[in-house]
Amino acid sequence: MAHQWRGVVAEYADRLPAHLLERTVTLGEGGTPLVPAPVLSERTGADVYLKVEGMNPTGSFKDRGMTAAMSAAAGRGAKVVVCASTGNTSASAAAYATRAGMICAVLVPDGKIAMGKLSQAIAHGARLLQVDGNFDDCLVAARKLAESYPVELVNSVNPDRIEGQKTGAFEIVDALGDAPDIHVLPVGNAGNITAYWKGFREYAGLCPDAPGGSLPAVATRTPAMWGFQAAGAAPIVLGHPVTEPETVATAIRIGNPASWRQAEEARDDSGGVIESVTDDQILAAHRVLSAEAGVFVEPGSAAGVAGLLSRAERGLVPAGARVTVTVTGHGLKDPQWALRTLDGADVEPTRVSADVVSIADALDLS
Ligand code: F0G
Repeated sequence: MAHQWRGVVAEYADRLPAHLLERTVTLGEGGTPLVPAPVLSERTGADVYLKVEGMNPTGSFKDRGMTAAMSAAAGRGAKVVVCASTGNTSASAAAYATRAGMICAVLVPDGKIAMGKLSQAIAHGARLLQVDGNFDDCLVAARKLAESYPVELVNSVNPDRIEGQKTGAFEIVDALGDAPDIHVLPVGNAGNITAYWKGFREYAGLCPDAPGGSLPAVATRTPAMWGFQAAGAAPIVLGHPVTEPETVATAIRIGNPASWRQAEEARDDSGGVIESVTDDQILAAHRVLSAEAGVFVEPGSAAGVAGLLSRAERGLVPAGARVTVTVTGHGLKDPQWALRTLDGADVEPTRVSADVVSIADALDLS
């Protein structure tokens, strides 16, 4: 029988904190494909791969962190968890809480999360509260709730979330045989860039005090970390919080990231960059991914590719560099963007009668 992937906590048990193993809550997350992207290699002159995180159980990379946070919470006997979310964290928390038999409260910005994500949280039975405020307001409230009530916070300020998410970097190194030259990803609350940098460093043997720090190094080097924020929600790029963040990429519509300092550290220690991309660049990259690379992602996930293409246009991608890009969430989360042209017009399906000649005509086959 083929090997059944057991989820990231079991697969990487020797490099994760032991307390995650007491009562592991898993839906089989991780083990996602690293897909070569010849179209992007051609456009950039580099050797580009996509880490397709939409293939996780709830359709985003959040499941890696959630299995860890929820296992820790279950091990402590927690009954209720809470998170603030732009959508994906809430979908993931809701699913894993259900699996663990816990109640899950989620705080989301009213009207600003994609329908797919909203329906996931509801389908999994979360106590969903739409808050009159943005993500940053929701996170402040969630933190206060967890301080004052018997509720565990499962946002990425919870260190177990970072532990789980660092396995994305492990899988990339395992697949390629070493670290890439450059790793690219979108930045919102900045947990994932923090986690990937931690994972790459640990696998290169640079963190002797980490769990499994005495194991032999798997990688000989670490990549430059390239993070991209949406231009209307780019506090790290601007150097100050953004009080009213705005972008079509609702997943990363965040004005005051919790892991701001760690993201700057990842950028600086790795010799990387954090830049911004416009909504037009994001939607163009979203279309390149779906129509040319065959990979359907949500707009926020396209920000990394948008940034990579933008740097390539400016001659800033070294020829032949091995580049990995985390595409963070599935296109079905927020499908409306596929039904619009890049000029903003609605895509109208062609209607035909059910005879073969009309169909062949409509397909320009005759
Ligand atoms: N891509 C997607 C699809 C996301 O949902 C998020 C964050 C990010 C990228 C950015 O990752 O926050 O670690 O820098 N979504 C969070 C949420 C904020 O609530 O689902 P980050």
